[in-house]
Amino acid sequence: MSAPGSFPAGPPRPAAPNPAGPGGGEPVTVRALVARGAGAELRIERIRLSAPGPGEVRVTIRAAGVCHSDLSMVNGTIAARFPLVLGHEATGVIAEVGPGSALRVGTPVVLNWAPACRACWWCRNGEPWLCADTTAPTVPRGETDDGLPLHLTLGLGALAEAVVVPENAVIPIPAGLPPERAALLGCAVLTGVGAVHNTARVASGDSVAVIGLGGVGLAVLTAARRAGATTILAVDVAEAKRDLALAAGATDFLLSDDRLSKEVRARTEGRGVDHAFECVGRAATIRAAWRLTRRGGVVTVVGMGAKDDMVSLGALDIFHSARTLRSSVYGSSDPDREVPALAAELADGALDLRALVSGTVSLDDAPTAFARLARGEGARWVVTLD
Ligand code: APR
Ligand code: ZN
Repeated sequence: MSAPGSFPAGPPRPAAPNPAGPGGGEPVTVRALVARGAGAELRIERIRLSAPGPGEVRVTIRAAGVCHSDLSMVNGTIAARFPLVLGHEATGVIAEVGPGSALRVGTPVVLNWAPACRACWWCRNGEPWLCADTTAPTVPRGETDDGLPLHLTLGLGALAEAVVVPENAVIPIPAGLPPERAALLGCAVLTGVGAVHNTARVASGDSVAVIGLGGVGLAVLTAARRAGATTILAVDVAEAKRDLALAAGATDFLLSDDRLSKEVRARTEGRGVDHAFECVGRAATIRAAWRLTRRGGVVTVVGMGAKDDMVSLGALDIFHSARTLRSSVYGSSDPDREVPALAAELADGALDLRALVSGTVSLDDAPTAFARLARGEGARWVVTLD
């Protein structure tokens, strides 16, 4: 995995679009999962996307994961604009390129919800995940069948038959990967693996606790196992997550209740864990992660919480415990470099994501998958398209 501060510029991109390229395509109408407002019922609707312009491509989606961040757009956790196409964790195939594009039709890709500009201070200083040009939670593009301006989750709106996105939002991957697993490289897996390797830098022999066992937390567990952590404590409010956690690499499952701190200390010689990962996105679980971590240990916040959900920590505790509290945005990763590396590992079997996918559903059944996510059922549900 990469070390922050040592990123190359990423794969070559055309410096400027060539106006003499193909392009000139027609707008397309596709089916997509749309929310008309916060709390509104999710529906499959027809949406119109214009043909890719210079520096853009159209991608036919093969598989898209259902992530809690999509739910956060519609349940009021994150302020979003509507009508909104959900989805930001996906794989597909380039179907059309804009004028002058160096990308080729037919190339399999994973979508990137935080494409780096490669020019701002953060990109130039090796932190492309903090790019100043970072995608807003919802980005305007396309229109509904009844002519309303449409918005796309994280600039992608990937729970759809197709997307039209900037060229730097696609990352080529090898052909032939199982789409329902390749899709996860675009969010849960990159986030989880990056949080462990790049942000927290978990070392062999470390003890780890992971709070929240959805697609993201299970990816963190898998990565902690691969990093050689020996004590891996999986924590959730749902007992049903026990088997999933053990399959993903946990050494123990613990219920998130008032005995949690005691149980964790009993498994870490009374100290607490070296690393706690918060994969829920709530102040209460950030506090819990803080309490489970040993003096001098590290709390890594992976969940995306609400603006007004305040975390309270004692000033003396912060000083005396000497813990580090940091967040991991998109796994502190350079997706252009790390997604192809993960895709190669998925291809050769070194990265086993089978435990992360609970099942696949059709686009028509995507609302059902959201209901399961909201109830905390399963690991990742993935929408697959033909
Ligand atoms: N303590 C422990 N676990 C909890 C708690 C709690 N208080 N509250 C919820 N959980 C568990 C749920 O039972 C579920 O298993 O957290 C898990 C969250 O899983 P998902 O809803 O599948 O979320 P996921 O897609 O993994 O995303 C997790 O990362 O990217 C962010 O926005 C995303 O904040 C979200 C987080
Ligand atoms: Zn996500």
